[in-house]
Amino acid sequence: STDSAQTDSTVEPHLIEMRRPLEADMVEHPPGCPFDPAPGLLARRGQGAVQPITLTNGLTVYLVTGFDEGRAVLADSRFSADKFRNRDVTSMQPEEVTALGTTEAERGVCPVVSFDEAPPRTDGYFIFMDPPEHTRLRRLLTGQFTVRRMKLLESRVHEIAAEHIEAMRAAGTEADLVPAYAMPIPSLMICELLGVDYADRDEFQRYTSVSTNVLASDEEKAASAAGQYVFMERLVREKRANPGDDIISGLINVSDPALTDSELVDISLMLLGAGHETTANMLGLGALALLSHPDQLAALRADPALYDNAVEELLRYLSIIQLGVTRIAMEDVTVGGVEIPKGATAMLAAPEANRDPAHFDHPDRLDVTRPRPPHLTFGHGVHQCIGQQLARIEMRIGLEELFTRMPELRLTLPLEEVDVKNEMLLFGVRSLPVTWA
Ligand code: HEM
Repeated sequence: STDSAQTDSTVEPHLIEMRRPLEADMVEHPPGCPFDPAPGLLARRGQGAVQPITLTNGLTVYLVTGFDEGRAVLADSRFSADKFRNRDVTSMQPEEVTALGTTEAERGVCPVVSFDEAPPRTDGYFIFMDPPEHTRLRRLLTGQFTVRRMKLLESRVHEIAAEHIEAMRAAGTEADLVPAYAMPIPSLMICELLGVDYADRDEFQRYTSVSTNVLASDEEKAASAAGQYVFMERLVREKRANPGDDIISGLINVSDPALTDSELVDISLMLLGAGHETTANMLGLGALALLSHPDQLAALRADPALYDNAVEELLRYLSIIQLGVTRIAMEDVTVGGVEIPKGATAMLAAPEANRDPAHFDHPDRLDVTRPRPPHLTFGHGVHQCIGQQLARIEMRIGLEELFTRMPELRLTLPLEEVDVKNEMLLFGVRSLPVTWA
């Protein structure tokens, strides 16, 4: 159905390889504890800001649990974001790791493609690129995500939020907030920004529901990736013929040099994917966090000016991209006193870095009065999230409208029974049954 496609489908493209060979306790949250880091992460507390850990395939990766160390890795040009250059070592099968030889596996080094033989890139997934290729494409997009354009969106987010709240009320006294509210707001916004017909999103989401499904076969994944490409290629060609006031049309107008069709398709797919589920997860999990912390919700109701703080605090506290940000060391690099060998993967443990006691008092406490706490949820450095202003606007207005227009809102089931996305490194709730009766 559309609803299940919506909740299970689109994932930020850099997280597609999310089903890594990690121990289950590194990603799975016990019932009733959807807010705290997974037990495997909690168990490693106090063992260092950079910790070599062994994946289930036998390879070593370097888990970065410190806030400063996380920032240092993401700001350091000796680390590459290009997973294809050296392939993503963390998705290797055990037999491939065995073939590496013991020493390399222990060092976490994957020598499948040497750094000097990087294949030329022609596509536009700049999240996987390093400067200068990354710089050229990213700069074109920052020109589209202007503060002015984002400001103009605010009234549109208010409208969409209000419409969806009215629709929930009109339909009765209960709803599932994920398909009824958390998914459609970011979905509609990114479709409007890109100039994608919202009616077409079902087709798009059918493809991504396969390509991001860990149980789908390679053939199914290849077919859906191809379908998704054709979908966007068609749209890019339509916009070339008939430009509008949207981001894809804006990118088409870029000259010196103009973007190729394949670059345009990739950038658009990256944005469409990124614009959907990240913010939707924050809205769903954020609403759950506030409903489960009545004192915090009361503080927001008493002083709505606190919503700006609350958004940053929820981003920090929930760290929805849990172990999804990785880098490959291009040479031996020492971080936090630990040497990360050339070719090895550093993996940001955002839930821990965002609760580093060196940076936050009572880091495990949700406190919406913290003055805009810093966090690594949008990353750091040259790849820092391009959609962060949009995401913030959607979260602030989405949460404020929800709790203002629905003062009686409450969960209809205990926290222990809330269905969470435990198998995903991009964390969230799959459904959130509520009532306002
Ligand atoms: C990059 C998180 C919403 C578009 C990133 C990165 C993170 C992130 C952690 C950096 C990845 C890395 O360094 O490897 C989030 C979260 C969001 C969100 C938590 C919502 C709460 C969005 C939205 C859009 C978007 C709404 C699009 C409109 C992008 C793009 C990049 C990116 C294009 C790549 C930037 C680059 O490589 O230079 N995001 N994101 N994100 N995000 Fe987001």
